[in-house]
Amino acid sequence: MPPLQPHRYPDSNVFYRNLRRSYPLIDRAEGCWLVDTSGRRYLDATGGAMVVSVGHGVAEIAEAMAAQAKRVAYVNGTAFTSEPVERLASDLCQRSPAYGKSYFLGSGSEAVEAALKLARQHWVERKRPSKHKVIALTPSYHGNTLLALSASAREHYRILYREWLVDVVHIPAPYAYRCSCAGASGCRICSGDVLEEAIRREGSETVAAFIAEPVGGSSTGASVPRRGYFERIREICDAYDVLFVADEILCGAGRTGRWLALEHWGVNADIVTIGKALSGGYAPLSAILATEGVVAPIAEGSGAFVHAQTFSHHAVTCAGGVAALSYLDAHRLVERVAAMSPVLFEALAVLRDHPLVGDIRGRGLLAGIEFVADKSTRTPIPRAKRFAEHFTQAAQDAGLIVWPNVGHADGVNGDLVLIAPPFTIGSDEIAEIVSRFRTALDECRGETFTHRKS
Ligand SMILES: Cc1ncc(COP(=O)(O)O)c(C=O)c1O
Repeated sequence: MPPLQPHRYPDSNVFYRNLRRSYPLIDRAEGCWLVDTSGRRYLDATGGAMVVSVGHGVAEIAEAMAAQAKRVAYVNGTAFTSEPVERLASDLCQRSPAYGKSYFLGSGSEAVEAALKLARQHWVERKRPSKHKVIALTPSYHGNTLLALSASAREHYRILYREWLVDVVHIPAPYAYRCSCAGASGCRICSGDVLEEAIRREGSETVAAFIAEPVGGSSTGASVPRRGYFERIREICDAYDVLFVADEILCGAGRTGRWLALEHWGVNADIVTIGKALSGGYAPLSAILATEGVVAPIAEGSGAFVHAQTFSHHAVTCAGGVAALSYLDAHRLVERVAAMSPVLFEALAVLRDHPLVGDIRGRGLLAGIEFVADKSTRTPIPRAKRFAEHFTQAAQDAGLIVWPNVGHADGVNGDLVLIAPPFTIGSDEIAEIVSRFRTALDECRGETFTHRKS
């Protein structure tokens, strides 16, 4: 084998996600740690892209997938089914009995795309074809394929493709840190009333679905809507015959200390998307869960969901999902997320004094740390400073992996990072995250951002 080329553009044949940086080559991973080919260790405080739930390097999951690949790797989902597909569907519907049907795909964007199409087809089958509009939140992130991107309010991803996006109605997200209500009761946005206003304005006969992330991910950065918000959303959706799609790609599958984040509000959606932590990163796997009531009109009408992808209902990826869930149960990892959550947030609290840290919030093992230029006015750092990007690089240099998020404050400005470690993280590793985080912050403060003293 020829020696590996340097891992950067233009020396490698890989079309990298960023053509201006070089990439360490990760050789192996275990628990919360990644090790590159030079032996350097990185504390993976975001489990990749908020994906790695059961920890890196779980042999049982790799073995279950290998065994399935040997038995039968792939069958065409239009002609056959397979044991892992049946088992995973049954497992997911037992965990959340409100939903009776599971449809498997490969990514979050695909799941969102399919969920919105399903909502549309549901109304057509019910002879209400005028119901086609989607209402979503701003900020929000639902994926990068064109329908999912249309639903997403993330300007810097949308701008290049604006002419190709479809119209989606956006209403303000419940984003407590940046809402003008400052936590007061009676806020139209934070109560959810703003959804009712939008449905009335658009005409309920035109609205098919409302989509929201129960806990904000790469959008409002781990903001948790107040108690009563999703109860009100459910009430409004029922009153106006609008399907509620809960996008749990990032916050579902145990990340917030409950299997589905929506359980914190005690309500059910009509369709749920779930991904990322579902397979813990061992397979590109996502799913939509739908109530029997959503699917029945299709079964009784045309008989088939008008949507198909070659690799949906894939035997090996579903075997990865089954094995990841059985590991999650055997080690009681969702309970562990709930138990470790106070440890994480108490440890992160020491960062609150830092002049650049405006807010720290979240639920379970999902934390958002929002940076500001001025704590008292919550003024964001000007985007031109690219603070989140500099901070993330400084953290990586300190051996800490965090997830940057930008633009949430006003569509352009806004810098935050997410912390979302594997569910297996221990107290010592949490202390290490905070220590390396502070090192990176101090590094950025000195070199890439001059803080204006207030
Ligand atoms: C809430 C939410 N929905 C959808 C997606 C899209 O998922 P994917 O990147 O797997 O396509 C993401 C990705 O971060 C997400 O956070």
